[in-house]
Amino acid sequence: MVKRHAYLKATGSYLPEKVLSNADFERMVETTDEWILTRTGIRERRIAAVGEEVSHMGRDAALKAIEKAGIDKSAIDLILVATSTPEYLVSNTASLIQNELGLTDIPAFDLQAACSGYIFGISMAKAYIESGTFNTILLVAPEKLSAITDYEDRGTSILFGDGAAAAILSSEPAGLMIGTTPIGSDGSQYGLLNIPAGGSKTPAGESTVRDKLHTIKMNGKELFKHAVRRMNSAAGACLKAEGITKEEIDWLVPHQANIRIIEAVAKYCDIPHEKVFKTVHKYGNTSASSVGIALDELLEAHPFNPGQKVLLAAFGAGLTWGATLLTQV
Ligand code: UT7
Repeated sequence: MVKRHAYLKATGSYLPEKVLSNADFERMVETTDEWILTRTGIRERRIAAVGEEVSHMGRDAALKAIEKAGIDKSAIDLILVATSTPEYLVSNTASLIQNELGLTDIPAFDLQAACSGYIFGISMAKAYIESGTFNTILLVAPEKLSAITDYEDRGTSILFGDGAAAAILSSEPAGLMIGTTPIGSDGSQYGLLNIPAGGSKTPAGESTVRDKLHTIKMNGKELFKHAVRRMNSAAGACLKAEGITKEEIDWLVPHQANIRIIEAVAKYCDIPHEKVFKTVHKYGNTSASSVGIALDELLEAHPFNPGQKVLLAAFGAGLTWGATLLTQV
């Protein structure tokens, strides 16, 4: 029997209009544009408007991916959503996006792998497509990190932004063929980045609100080391399994958390900086949507020729990490 392959047929993204610049942060907390730029590479990020929810941003990114794929939305037979900022704990955001798109009956569910969500989503969609379970999958990664950010904490608030990415994954040979997609997790380090309250262990209450336990708490220094190590190992595993050399990679799209992390991964992968696609300066860290937004902008700016390859790598809370190799057909 001929093996079925999975293809990333088209991508889409959405960024809210409102810009939060480093100069804005200079007015909000004790920081400087120079500190933020040199320590993170971030100049500005986008922030959702009041009433602009993840289902809206996700819908708009999805509509662009559907249009670019040239399919009718009725062809979609599964919606997967990767987000750390679901609109509600229940119901899932995938169902809300299904509703926003005017689709019914098809399954729709969320996965939570923090900043690795887009690659975990690709891994899951690939398995579903290769097994013949589904043919056309809509993957959406919308994030509204502004809703879970403590804007009095200069150590975290400067990092995060809002945005959404989407992709149409298909069994039809078009776009980018999805190669080896190694993913991994290390739950022993879950405390390095989490939101302490609002889940079933510590439900919302007066004290959790007072103590700001509904916003991101992070050990940035430790995470930094894990991020570099795990993205390097995932990228290395991907190249090894594919049997290709670093020279054969046309583009690297790493998770856009910090320019210093991006540079460390590029150095390990031996990929020159002009082949590393970056959006961190203008959007900051948009968690699950980060790699997807960057991939969408890369494909818009530099349409691929057949055979060209892009390596994606991501890392996030959990801890979680993953990589995938995509080759233009
Ligand atoms: O999405 C995946 C998960 N996230 C990450 O991967 C994030 C990874 N970590 C990072 O990107 C970096 O660790 C940060 C950008 C968060 C921090 O950079 P750092 O070089 O690790 O700085 P630090 O946390 O060690 O802080 C150094 C100093 C501290 O002052 P003291 O204790 O040395 O006096 C901080 O209080 O910088 C201070 N600091 C700031 N100063 C000005 C922290 N944030 C700021 C700020 N402005 N915004």
